[in-house]
Amino acid sequence: MASWEDYVRKVVPYTPGEQPENLNVVKLNTNENPYPPSPKVREALRELSDDKLRRYPDPAAASLTDAIARQYHVSPGQVFVGVGSDDVLAMSFLTFFNSDKPILFPDISYSFYEVWADLFRIPYRKQKLNDAFEIVTEDYCQENGGIVFPNPNAPTGVLMGKDRIERILESSKGSVVIVDEAYIDFAPEGSSVLPLLPKYDNLLVVQTFSKSRSLAGMRIGYAIGSEKLIGYLSDCKYSFNSYTLSQAALLAGEAAVRDAAYYEECSEKVMKTREKTKKVLSGMGFAFADSQANFLFVTHEKVPARQLFQDLRKAGIVVRYFDQPRIDDYLRITIGTEEQMDVLFDFLRKYL
Ligand SMILES: Cc1ncc(COP(=O)(O)O)c(C=O)c1O
Repeated sequence: MASWEDYVRKVVPYTPGEQPENLNVVKLNTNENPYPPSPKVREALRELSDDKLRRYPDPAAASLTDAIARQYHVSPGQVFVGVGSDDVLAMSFLTFFNSDKPILFPDISYSFYEVWADLFRIPYRKQKLNDAFEIVTEDYCQENGGIVFPNPNAPTGVLMGKDRIERILESSKGSVVIVDEAYIDFAPEGSSVLPLLPKYDNLLVVQTFSKSRSLAGMRIGYAIGSEKLIGYLSDCKYSFNSYTLSQAALLAGEAAVRDAAYYEECSEKVMKTREKTKKVLSGMGFAFADSQANFLFVTHEKVPARQLFQDLRKAGIVVRYFDQPRIDDYLRITIGTEEQMDVLFDFLRKYL
């Protein structure tokens, strides 16, 4: 006799980075922003009245969607919001990747892509990054059921030029191309592919409030694309869960978008610390690709990454280690405050 377990959707879940309860650890493991959100966010949260809590939030999240549309000079119908970009990406996989042909993404990339593909039974092919951890453009200029990659890539931090992304878009007009720009605000200005939107109605750009806007705890992400793409995405969302963003997230998100100047300053600080960290770590014998994100992906010829990961942990410094082929001798280190990085440097100086 068949068992009910034969009919269970079995998946190998994504493993999120650890969130240690001890707030005294130097936490450099999940690419959060070391600086607090804009003071305007806390101010906005004071509007969280009993009435607001008693009622359902606006299912269209119009206040936030409009604010994002204004910030990026697109129409509100081109914006979709969700519970972190994870929610937006998952909904996008479900909505757009329904071909029998495999979707394409890099072998070293955000590991959630593979999990969603498995969850939704989407065929996929992982395309190998070259030895410099770069995406090989030609690998994506072939028949596919969709394309997704982060830019800058995670966990490598490597940024792909807009011209190369446009080559991929030119050759993939028959499928949806998702560019996951979770870390784009730490890359040089003008790196985003948002300006390509008027040319490609199959391009979806996904961004988040978790990194440059210091709101990982609030869970807000968004996608910008053609009104047609966003319409399909909304239909799927309303077929799944209408009230995705909480009242708190709507208030916080809108206030954050409106304080762009504050966040630009924070991102500048993170980028400055990143460049300094590159100099210090390369002076200590670490090798890494030239990250344009808020983390470095480092390896050391003398010290095995797994060992260093464990020893850092014992010293109260938490970084991220991925036990995966090709990258099991690397550590991903989030850029923290200057003070946090000094704690790391002091440890490493003694350790090495
Ligand atoms: C490349 C990439 N995309 C998406 C996300 C998801 O971010 P969130 O769901 O917090 O917006 C992350 C988180 O680390 C990421 O690294």
